[in-house]
Amino acid sequence: MAFLSGLALALVLSLFRGVFAQTYNEIYRPQYHFTPGKNWMNDPNGLVFHNGVYHLYYQYNPDGNTWGNISWGHATSTNLTHWTEHPVALLARGYPGELTEAFFTGTVVADPQNTSGFGTNGTVPLVAMYTSYYPTSQTLPSGKSVTGGQQAQSIAYSLDDGYTWTTYDAANPVIPTPPAPYEDQWRDFRDPFIFWHDATKKWISVISVSQLHKLLIYTSSNLKQWTLASEFGPLNAVGGVWECPSIVPLPLDGDETNIKWVAQIGLNPGGPPGVTGSGTQYIVGTFDGTRFVADPDPLSPAPTSTEPHGPNWMDYGPDFYAAATFNGLPYLSHLNIAWVNNWQYAGVIPTAPWRSMMSIARRISLKTIGGRAVLIQQPMADVASLQTKTYSSSFATVAEGNQLIPLSEKTLDVTVSFSDRAAVSSSSQFGIILRATSDLAQQTRIGYDFSTKRLFVDRSKSGNISFDGTFASTYYAPLEPASDGKVTMRILLDWSSVEVFGGQGEVAISAQIFPEDNGIDAQLFSSGGSTGDVTIDAKILGSAWGAPGAPPTTSSTTTRTATTLTTTMRSFSR
Ligand SMILES: *[C@@H]1O[C@H](CO)[C@@H](O)[C@H](O)[C@H]1NC(C)=O
Ligand SMILES: *[C@@H]1O[C@H](CO)[C@@H](O)[C@H](O)[C@H]1NC(C)=O
Ligand SMILES: *[C@@H]1O[C@H](CO)[C@@H](O)[C@H](O)[C@H]1NC(C)=O
Ligand SMILES: *[C@@H]1O[C@H](CO)[C@@H](O)[C@H](O)[C@H]1NC(C)=O
Ligand SMILES: *[C@@H]1O[C@H](CO)[C@@H](O)[C@H](O)[C@H]1NC(C)=O
Repeated sequence: MAFLSGLALALVLSLFRGVFAQTYNEIYRPQYHFTPGKNWMNDPNGLVFHNGVYHLYYQYNPDGNTWGNISWGHATSTNLTHWTEHPVALLARGYPGELTEAFFTGTVVADPQNTSGFGTNGTVPLVAMYTSYYPTSQTLPSGKSVTGGQQAQSIAYSLDDGYTWTTYDAANPVIPTPPAPYEDQWRDFRDPFIFWHDATKKWISVISVSQLHKLLIYTSSNLKQWTLASEFGPLNAVGGVWECPSIVPLPLDGDETNIKWVAQIGLNPGGPPGVTGSGTQYIVGTFDGTRFVADPDPLSPAPTSTEPHGPNWMDYGPDFYAAATFNGLPYLSHLNIAWVNNWQYAGVIPTAPWRSMMSIARRISLKTIGGRAVLIQQPMADVASLQTKTYSSSFATVAEGNQLIPLSEKTLDVTVSFSDRAAVSSSSQFGIILRATSDLAQQTRIGYDFSTKRLFVDRSKSGNISFDGTFASTYYAPLEPASDGKVTMRILLDWSSVEVFGGQGEVAISAQIFPEDNGIDAQLFSSGGSTGDVTIDAKILGSAWGAPGAPPTTSSTTTRTATTLTTTMRSFSR
């Protein structure tokens, strides 16, 4: 039985491999984060859970490893861990050849009540709203004229659960230009986020007027005709264009009688402090079906609404952009996926034959921490199912210095917690070094700085850093120890990335790394003194691509000395 199903799986896999002809074990190939088999990818699009399947569409170049020919690629999963790539869902019009329309970022909804009228023969239509980018001036099949360089909002529908799509040529684009007084922004009007607002029984579309740092909110009863309802912004971070917006309802502290709405907004450039390039901020507020209003900061009430609080960053790392949320999940349940890259260097990262990966799916919630409503993110993909081994240890004390630990791996889900250290010197840090070469010439440091109360990821020596002058940097996120005095960090390590979640997930730092294949060592480090109550709980993960990538390496030929660990418990299971 097991043999037969294994054989069947192997056959399916070989067919899959036949179509996409990728091994998924190239150096830097993520083993449990989604990447297309080959070619360029950017923003996640059209995230929708429909009939038990998670659909992930994404900005995709069917023809190469840099941005261009922008189409919607497509992948599906039933568990957010194993993804299957499908043929391109929306292929740039004119490709291969002179492009007349590219398909920029957008959203997908299921329309079970057939409000759009696209349903036929009992099927529930899926409807996508996306930004049409027209490289050249032309008159469209709808009779509408567009100008070269124009961005406008269009729709398409699918009657086979999202695998093939038909553009609504009879009337596209359904929102051709921004409204007065923003008509002159027709080159920067993009990224519609649509969802069903049950309280008002209307479709909502949130669209950015990027250069002006504004979101326009439209409503519709049929996904075809849209009415401008309100506008929002600028607010908080405005250091670059606003793109890829979304607004989602979340109960504060799980209280469903206290629903807040959270706006997520991409900025490029203008990311978090210390990040060159893009980033994602969030703003907590209210939404009544018409208007999004930011809450004032409870800790520093502003006299005017122009600056209610400082920017809240969804992720303090350099590689987390265009965060998008799934439609089709139960009300108040939200999962995000973002693009793990940065426009600063996205086109030159040393991966081939693909470029860019998606983040792990993250469940988002809202919790009061330190008197503020704070977005909490927790990894949701079932990576535990990929576990090949576990390692856990606890140490009453880890002495000052570096200590090798047996986690010489390239794919890990590891949680490290330790006690805060009161009265420490300014250089006092504790953390874990991953993907290190035996001489430590290459290493990625993930740790906590006790005196400034900041979580950090230092990728300044992480491997190939030469392709961009800003890549070799350290990224910091503010993090208070928990009320029991413990600091916790959960690290998802893949072959070319780390995603770090601090505390309960109130801060995250995501960063790409491009280490040498033989840089796999792990060490604990404690500077400025020893660190107490250290526990490590690790899952060593296999590959989600059906077959293992490079086998995990568990031995090291170099002899080391520093073993001053006080080990109180240790287990190693296979
Ligand atoms: C876009 O596709 C065309 C083929 O139609 C190809 O020649 C061109 O190199 C592609 N552009 C990019 C940036 O990949
Ligand atoms: C959806 O609406 C269209 C237009 O009114 C109609 O032709 C079609 O039969 C409807 N489909 C379903 C499944 O209700
Ligand atoms: C309508 O559905 C029936 C039953 O599933 C199927 O036999 C028929 O081919 C469908 N017709 C069209 C036009 O899709
Ligand atoms: C580092 O990456 C750059 C950009 O992809 C590449 O040109 C260069 O050869 C790489 N360096 C090494 C040492 O692999
Ligand atoms: C996830 O889905 C894939 C494909 O259907 C399957 O092979 C894998 O076992 C699933 N994993 C879990 C944890 O359910």
